[in-house]
Amino acid sequence: MQRLSVIVVFLAFMFAGCRGTESENPPIHPNLNMDFQARFDPQEANEFFADRRAMRPPVPGTIARGLLRADARFYNGQTEGGQFVTEVPVPVTEALLRRGQERYNIYCAVCHGLSGDGRGIVTTGGYGYTPAPTYHDDRLRQVEDGYLYSVIVNGVRTMPSYAAQVEVADRWAIVAYIRALQRSQYGTQADVPAQILPTLQQVGTGSTADGQATGDTTEAGTPGAATSQTNAPATQGQ
Ligand code: HEC
Repeated sequence: MQRLSVIVVFLAFMFAGCRGTESENPPIHPNLNMDFQARFDPQEANEFFADRRAMRPPVPGTIARGLLRADARFYNGQTEGGQFVTEVPVPVTEALLRRGQERYNIYCAVCHGLSGDGRGIVTTGGYGYTPAPTYHDDRLRQVEDGYLYSVIVNGVRTMPSYAAQVEVADRWAIVAYIRALQRSQYGTQADVPAQILPTLQQVGTGSTADGQATGDTTEAGTPGAATSQTNAPATQGQ
């Protein structure tokens, strides 16, 4: 009998608990931890402050760690006086150029072309996009490095900004790489280090003769084995 009443009471509680009625009372909460604490919720009013805002704005002049950006030349591409810096403000190393090449090929080449001649797929593909200019004209060869940086940050006329895609250090890497592209199109013999020049001349004459000779021999049905042999040492010498 006693057992039966225990079961009945148990079932009564169980069904009562399952009825899904709303209750204003908190559930049993034996371990409070810090679940109930005196605090202000976001946007709540607080009479303590004159403006009654519990959320306090940072002290004027507060700068988050790592966001000082005091170096105007690096971050803005401009001198303190607001002039474009003439040269990339970081050391131009091979690693920087390679990084610039990689970033350029991802973000800029689609319009400006892999060699910077303005013949990227977007420009030449008949999509009706404003043609991107070539970098190989006098004006763009003479603009300051800081100007090229500003084009990436702000865009120019119909070209959108690429600031969101390309971070500060990478922008300079791209600028350095554009300079390399420009030099690549206007290089002269004087740019070649003296000790490499003889090898280069050899390769130059070798490959021209090679090209013609190969063409001729292929037509004649003879393999160009001899010509590729003559070319090999020169290539290794480089
Ligand atoms: C969606 C196509 C597109 C992409 C991508 C693009 N550009 Fe351009 N860019 C243009 C067009 C179009 C112009 C010419 C804008 C005009 O004259 O209206 C231009 C102009 C320029 C100029 C010349 C500015 C001047 O003074 O005439 C530079 C430098 C340049 N872009 C650099 C870059 C760099 C660096 C990137 C990559 C971060 C890039 N562009 C990516 C389309 C593009």
